[in-house]
This record gives sequence, structure tokens and C-alpha cells, in this order.
Amino acid sequence: MPAIEHWTLRDGTPATLRPIHASDAPALDALIRGLSPEDRRRRFHGSISGVTPERLHGMVEVDETRECAFVVLTGTASRQTLVGDARYVVDATGRGAEFALMVAGPWQRRGIGERAIAALQRIAAAAGLRWLYGSVLADNAPMLALMRHCGFLCTRSRIDRHLVCVEAGMDPRQRFAAPSLALSPVPAPSLTRLALHV
Ligand SMILES: CC(C)(COP(=O)(O)OP(=O)(O)OC[C@H]1O[C@@H](n2cnc3c(N)ncnc32)[C@H](O)[C@@H]1OP(=O)(O)O)[C@@H](O)C(=O)NCCC(=O)NCCS
Repeated sequence: MPAIEHWTLRDGTPATLRPIHASDAPALDALIRGLSPEDRRRRFHGSISGVTPERLHGMVEVDETRECAFVVLTGTASRQTLVGDARYVVDATGRGAEFALMVAGPWQRRGIGERAIAALQRIAAAAGLRWLYGSVLADNAPMLALMRHCGFLCTRSRIDRHLVCVEAGMDPRQRFAAPSLALSPVPAPSLTRLALHV
């Protein structure tokens, strides 16, 4: 479960990162529908105008035993806008998790994505996870730039030339919780068999 973080964007706007709540459904729906068609395609790997009510429900009602999801809001407490969403789902190995994120168009290039990736890595490490990975469309230059900026390994999928597999190992120094999960080495999931579950 992510802790609440407050910081200031480069332009001085206050920002908050906190766990997602069920009451965020309307704002999350607005974030998704407000993305450009290109950004929606990049996030959901398909041309959609929005997500179904069932999927939206699943995105805000998080199963904390295997999922982590948080939102980024800008503005002050009296008037906040939900501008970002980041999440991961733990895979069948129990050691890795697939992640995804999105930032509203007008709020991109202000460091929110980088902050969200750092939070995902910190939370995953604290949960005893060993790897965070994702599938990025090969033409998603902003996400690939963010991934490289954050030190992720980016490898063209061997089975789908339209995908790039991105992954990062967790810093063991951040692994202070759930030590029983950090025992014997288990191979990272095959980069040829990633699927978008988030
Ligand atoms: C990819 C995405 C999450 C990036 O979020 P963001 O908040 O704009 O990223 P940041 O501002 O934190 O960028 C950090 C660094 O990443 C790189 N970067 C991010 N976007 C970039 C872009 N459009 N062009 C070049 N570099 C970029 C830069 O190095 C940047 O640092 P800088 O601004 O100091 O140069 C955002 O563009 C987005 O939501 N896209 C649509 C959804 C999507 O593609 N999700 C990923 C699929 S899982």
C-alpha cells in the first residue's frame, strides 16, 4: 500500500500521490476519457474511447493481496484534479509484477511519470518483489524515453515486433518488508510471454 506523498511540480503546482479509493471511479473515468486517442491506445494497447464500468470498478477496487494502485492529484486539498494513475499486478511467480501508468496530457513532462515509477519500485521492493516489468508499444516513444530515463532495460519482444519489454530489478536495500518473499532466486518471467494484465 503506497504511503501518501506530497511534493511540488517544476512549475510550483502542489501534487499528491496516494492509494486509489473506490470514490476515485468518476475521476479515473474522466482521466481515461480525457487522454488523447493516441495516449489511450498506448496505455490500453487498443483503440478504445474508455473502459467498461466493470473494468473501471476493478481498477478502483484493488485486491491488495496481489495489486497496488495509486493516483496522482494536482492542486490543493480544496480543489484537486486526478491527473495520473499507476499500478502493478503480481504475477504467478509471486516475485514479479507487471505495471502500467498514465498521466493526463496537460500534465505530462512535469516529472509525474518519473515520480510514479519511483513509487512503484519502492512499494514493490518493500513488498518483497524482485522485478517490475511491462509491455510497451514499440512506437510509444515517451514511455520508452521515461523507461530509459528511469534505468529500465528495454528489449524488443522476440514474439511480437510491436512490443518492447521493459523491466527493472528491485534494489535489495529497499526490501525492508516481507523478508520471507526474498529468499531463493527464481528466474524472471520469460520476456517472450508477457501479457498486459494491468
Ligand atoms: C509515458 C508517460 C507516462 C510519461 O509521463 P510524464 O509524466 O510525462 O513523464 P515525466 O515528466 O516524468 O518524464 C521523465 C523523463 O522521461 C523522459 N520523457 C518522458 N516523456 C517524454 C517525451 N514525450 N519525449 C521525450 N522524453 C520523454 C524524459 O527524459 C523526462 O525527463 P525530462 O522531462 O526532464 O526531459 C505519459 O506520456 C503518458 O501517460 N503517456 C500515455 C500513456 C502511456 O503511454 N502509458 C504507458 C503504457 S504502460
